[in-house]
Amino acid sequence: MIISIFGPPGSGKGTQSYLLTNRENFIQLSTGDMLRSEVSNNTDLGMKVKKYLDSGKLVPDELIIDVVKARLDTLVASYSSLRLIFDGFPRTEKQCLMLADILTDMGLSMDRAFLLNIDLEDLVRRLVARRVCSSCGKVYNLVLSPPLKDNLCDNCGAVLIHRSDDQENIIRERIKTYSEFIDSIKSFFSNRTTIFDIDANQSIENVYRDIVSKLFIKK
Ligand code: AP5
Ligand code: MG
Repeated sequence: MIISIFGPPGSGKGTQSYLLTNRENFIQLSTGDMLRSEVSNNTDLGMKVKKYLDSGKLVPDELIIDVVKARLDTLVASYSSLRLIFDGFPRTEKQCLMLADILTDMGLSMDRAFLLNIDLEDLVRRLVARRVCSSCGKVYNLVLSPPLKDNLCDNCGAVLIHRSDDQENIIRERIKTYSEFIDSIKSFFSNRTTIFDIDANQSIENVYRDIVSKLFIKK
């Protein structure tokens, strides 16, 4: 099963992907996480993409496409029945076309897409207080869902990270970028699968409940 979770920065894509990974055996393919890992490992790609992440702009398509394709190849070769979540991909028309070609070549299809809808004013508030586990990826919020011990993950004890793009001016730029592309992404998904609109203003568990209730029903 292949699904996509999409929505604006801070809408809860990573949070919901984390829950689906731990509770329903999904694997998350987050292009944002992949790019940040390239930056922290100081790879050639990391050095090329850093300026885009730091400014809230999208990384050029040609730098993304090969990375996603390589990851997908590995996953498809490793799992006989893959449960995969695309988090934050595709993000442009070109990425949509490329994904459609790859899925066709691999004999795969997109089974469902979940659009996390949220009041935009809440996003900045959520993101400035976000912390993410440097090891297992669990997402926290210092106000709404803080860790039990300061700056340490409840789950694995690793240090929590404050993402460099979680600054108010960059968050606003990321929201602007999202608004420019969202219509073409929606039209891509609506031509290929069912899009479920999810109210992401609810609690984390209620958002999760809504997603899971749509996950296994017959379309
Ligand atoms: P990416 O990493 O994808 O970031 P994003 O889209 O801006 O989304 P976020 O990860 O910030 O938010 P989220 O929706 O995952 O929210 P989360 O669950 O963490 O991309 C970063 C950058 O990489 C881009 O700007 C671009 O430069 C580049 N990039 C990535 N993909 C690309 C692509 N395909 N093409 C080109 N460039 C690309 O939650 C946020 C906070 O809210 C947390 O504190 C959490 O605890 C809290 N929260 C979550 N849900 C709830 C809830 N229901 N109620 C209350 N609080 C909640
Ligand atoms: Mg995320």
